[in-house]
Amino acid sequence: MDREESKRIADILGEFRAGEPGLAQAFFGRVQDEWNWIPDEAIQAAADHFGTSYFSLQQLLSFNPSFSLEPQGRLVIQVCRGLSCGQGGSADIASEYGRLLGLRPGETTPDHQFSLRNSFCMGRCATGPNVKFNKTCFGNQEPGMAAKMLQGQGSPDQPLLPKLGGEVDKR
Ligand code: FES
Repeated sequence: MDREESKRIADILGEFRAGEPGLAQAFFGRVQDEWNWIPDEAIQAAADHFGTSYFSLQQLLSFNPSFSLEPQGRLVIQVCRGLSCGQGGSADIASEYGRLLGLRPGETTPDHQFSLRNSFCMGRCATGPNVKFNKTCFGNQEPGMAAKMLQGQGSPDQPLLPKLGGEVDKR
Protein backbone atom coordinates (compact mmCIF):
# COMPACT_ATOMS: atom_id res chain seq x y z
CA MET A 1 0.00 0.00 0.00
CA ASP A 2 1.19 3.52 -0.63
CA ARG A 3 1.48 6.18 2.06
CA GLU A 4 -1.89 7.71 1.25
CA GLU A 5 -3.66 4.35 1.59
CA SER A 6 -1.88 3.64 4.88
CA LYS A 7 -3.01 7.01 6.17
CA ARG A 8 -6.57 6.27 5.06
CA ILE A 9 -6.52 3.01 7.01
CA ALA A 10 -5.24 4.85 10.09
CA ASP A 11 -7.97 7.46 9.68
CA ILE A 12 -10.72 4.84 9.48
CA LEU A 13 -9.24 2.99 12.44
CA GLY A 14 -9.26 6.24 14.41
CA GLU A 15 -13.06 6.25 14.18
CA PHE A 16 -13.19 3.11 16.34
CA ARG A 17 -12.42 3.00 20.06
CA ALA A 18 -9.09 1.34 20.76
CA GLY A 19 -8.89 -1.82 22.88
CA GLU A 20 -12.30 -3.18 21.84
CA PRO A 21 -11.84 -6.22 19.59
CA GLY A 22 -15.62 -6.45 19.11
CA LEU A 23 -15.39 -3.39 16.85
CA ALA A 24 -12.94 -5.05 14.45
CA GLN A 25 -15.67 -6.44 12.20
CA ALA A 26 -17.21 -3.01 11.68
CA PHE A 27 -13.76 -1.60 10.88
CA PHE A 28 -13.14 -4.34 8.32
CA GLY A 29 -16.56 -3.62 6.80
CA ARG A 30 -15.41 -0.06 6.14
CA VAL A 31 -12.13 -1.26 4.65
CA GLN A 32 -13.91 -3.81 2.45
CA ASP A 33 -16.29 -1.09 1.23
CA GLU A 34 -13.43 1.15 0.26
CA TRP A 35 -10.92 -1.30 -1.24
CA ASN A 36 -13.12 -4.29 -2.09
CA TRP A 37 -10.70 -6.43 -0.08
CA ILE A 38 -8.82 -6.43 3.22
CA PRO A 39 -5.11 -5.67 2.82
CA ASP A 40 -2.75 -7.40 5.22
CA GLU A 41 -1.66 -4.02 6.56
CA ALA A 42 -5.22 -3.32 7.73
CA ILE A 43 -5.29 -6.59 9.69
CA GLN A 44 -2.00 -5.79 11.40
CA ALA A 45 -3.09 -2.24 12.20
CA ALA A 46 -6.40 -3.53 13.60
CA ALA A 47 -4.63 -6.10 15.80
CA ASP A 48 -2.51 -3.31 17.34
CA HIS A 49 -5.43 -0.89 17.69
CA PHE A 50 -7.97 -3.29 19.13
CA GLY A 51 -5.45 -5.17 21.28
CA THR A 52 -6.01 -8.58 19.79
CA SER A 53 -3.99 -11.04 17.76
CA TYR A 54 -3.42 -10.89 14.04
CA PHE A 55 -4.30 -14.59 13.87
CA SER A 56 -7.72 -14.20 15.50
CA LEU A 57 -8.60 -11.35 13.13
CA GLN A 58 -7.53 -13.38 10.13
CA GLN A 59 -9.78 -16.22 11.33
CA LEU A 60 -12.68 -13.80 11.72
CA LEU A 61 -12.17 -12.62 8.15
CA SER A 62 -11.68 -16.00 6.56
CA PHE A 63 -14.95 -17.35 8.03
CA ASN A 64 -17.01 -14.43 6.76
CA PRO A 65 -17.76 -14.53 3.02
CA SER A 66 -18.41 -10.77 2.96
CA PHE A 67 -14.68 -10.19 3.30
CA SER A 68 -11.98 -10.91 0.79
CA LEU A 69 -8.33 -11.38 1.69
CA GLU A 70 -7.34 -11.17 -1.98
CA PRO A 71 -7.44 -8.06 -4.18
CA GLN A 72 -10.74 -7.90 -6.02
CA GLY A 73 -11.74 -6.37 -9.30
CA ARG A 74 -13.16 -2.88 -9.56
CA LEU A 75 -16.47 -4.59 -10.24
CA VAL A 76 -17.28 -7.64 -8.12
CA ILE A 77 -20.06 -9.72 -9.67
CA GLN A 78 -21.81 -12.07 -7.27
CA VAL A 79 -24.27 -14.64 -8.48
CA CYS A 80 -26.63 -15.98 -5.81
CA ARG A 81 -26.33 -19.74 -5.59
CA GLY A 82 -28.89 -20.15 -2.82
CA LEU A 83 -31.68 -22.72 -3.18
CA SER A 84 -34.36 -20.47 -4.59
CA CYS A 85 -32.10 -18.69 -7.11
CA GLY A 86 -30.59 -22.06 -7.96
CA GLN A 87 -34.01 -23.36 -8.96
CA GLY A 88 -34.34 -20.33 -11.23
CA GLY A 89 -31.14 -21.18 -13.13
CA SER A 90 -28.40 -19.31 -11.27
CA ALA A 91 -25.84 -22.01 -12.18
CA ASP A 92 -26.37 -21.19 -15.88
CA ILE A 93 -26.18 -17.47 -15.13
CA ALA A 94 -22.88 -17.94 -13.26
CA SER A 95 -21.52 -20.01 -16.16
CA GLU A 96 -22.47 -17.30 -18.61
CA TYR A 97 -20.62 -14.58 -16.66
CA GLY A 98 -17.68 -16.94 -16.35
CA ARG A 99 -17.60 -17.55 -20.08
CA LEU A 100 -17.87 -13.86 -20.96
CA LEU A 101 -15.19 -12.76 -18.51
CA GLY A 102 -12.95 -15.80 -18.79
CA LEU A 103 -13.26 -16.41 -15.06
CA ARG A 104 -14.20 -19.20 -12.69
CA PRO A 105 -16.01 -18.26 -9.44
CA GLY A 106 -13.49 -16.78 -7.01
CA GLU A 107 -11.22 -15.46 -9.77
CA THR A 108 -10.31 -11.92 -10.84
CA THR A 109 -9.27 -10.72 -14.28
CA PRO A 110 -5.52 -9.96 -14.53
CA ASP A 111 -6.28 -6.25 -15.04
CA HIS A 112 -8.30 -6.23 -11.77
CA GLN A 113 -11.39 -4.92 -13.53
CA PHE A 114 -13.73 -7.83 -12.70
CA SER A 115 -14.14 -10.51 -10.06
CA LEU A 116 -16.70 -13.29 -10.17
CA ARG A 117 -18.06 -14.89 -7.03
CA ASN A 118 -20.79 -17.24 -5.98
CA SER A 119 -22.88 -15.96 -3.11
CA PHE A 120 -25.04 -17.43 -0.38
CA CYS A 121 -28.71 -16.41 -0.30
CA MET A 122 -28.92 -12.62 -0.63
CA GLY A 123 -32.20 -12.49 1.26
CA ARG A 124 -34.19 -11.48 -1.82
CA CYS A 125 -35.50 -14.87 -2.89
CA ALA A 126 -38.81 -13.43 -4.14
CA THR A 127 -37.00 -11.57 -6.93
CA GLY A 128 -34.50 -14.32 -7.78
CA PRO A 129 -32.38 -15.27 -9.48
CA ASN A 130 -30.31 -12.38 -8.14
CA VAL A 131 -26.95 -10.98 -9.22
CA LYS A 132 -25.01 -8.23 -7.44
CA PHE A 133 -22.68 -5.75 -9.11
CA ASN A 134 -20.69 -4.55 -6.12
CA LYS A 135 -23.50 -3.50 -3.73
CA THR A 136 -26.28 -3.15 -6.28
CA CYS A 137 -28.60 -6.12 -6.52
CA PHE A 138 -30.39 -6.99 -9.76
CA GLY A 139 -33.34 -9.37 -9.55
CA ASN A 140 -35.21 -11.51 -12.06
CA GLN A 141 -32.05 -12.45 -13.93
CA GLU A 142 -32.13 -15.14 -16.59
CA PRO A 143 -29.56 -17.00 -18.64
CA GLY A 144 -28.85 -14.87 -21.71
CA MET A 145 -28.86 -11.53 -19.84
CA ALA A 146 -25.21 -11.37 -18.74
CA ALA A 147 -23.80 -9.63 -21.84
CA LYS A 148 -26.44 -6.93 -21.63
CA MET A 149 -25.81 -6.51 -17.91
CA LEU A 150 -22.11 -6.02 -18.58
CA GLN A 151 -22.72 -3.36 -21.21
CA GLY A 152 -21.03 -0.14 -20.12
CA GLN A 153 -18.95 -1.87 -17.44
CA GLY A 154 -15.15 -1.75 -17.45
CA SER A 155 -12.84 1.22 -17.20
CA PRO A 156 -13.48 4.17 -19.57
CA ASP A 157 -10.20 3.56 -21.41
CA GLN A 158 -10.72 -0.19 -21.49
CA PRO A 159 -14.41 -0.93 -21.95
CA LEU A 160 -15.45 -4.51 -21.72
CA LEU A 161 -17.53 -4.68 -24.87
CA PRO A 162 -14.71 -4.99 -27.40
CA LYS A 163 -13.51 -8.05 -25.51
CA LEU A 164 -16.96 -9.55 -25.82
CA GLY A 165 -16.99 -9.03 -29.54
CA GLY A 166 -20.08 -6.85 -29.29
CA GLU A 167 -22.27 -9.75 -28.23
CA VAL A 168 -24.85 -7.48 -26.69
CA ASP A 169 -28.52 -8.01 -27.10
CA LYS A 170 -29.80 -4.47 -27.81
CA ARG A 171 -33.46 -5.22 -27.14
S1 FES B 1 -31.65 -17.88 -2.81
FE1 FES B 1 -30.99 -16.13 -3.93
S2 FES B 1 -31.75 -14.49 -2.77
FE2 FES B 1 -32.33 -16.21 -1.63
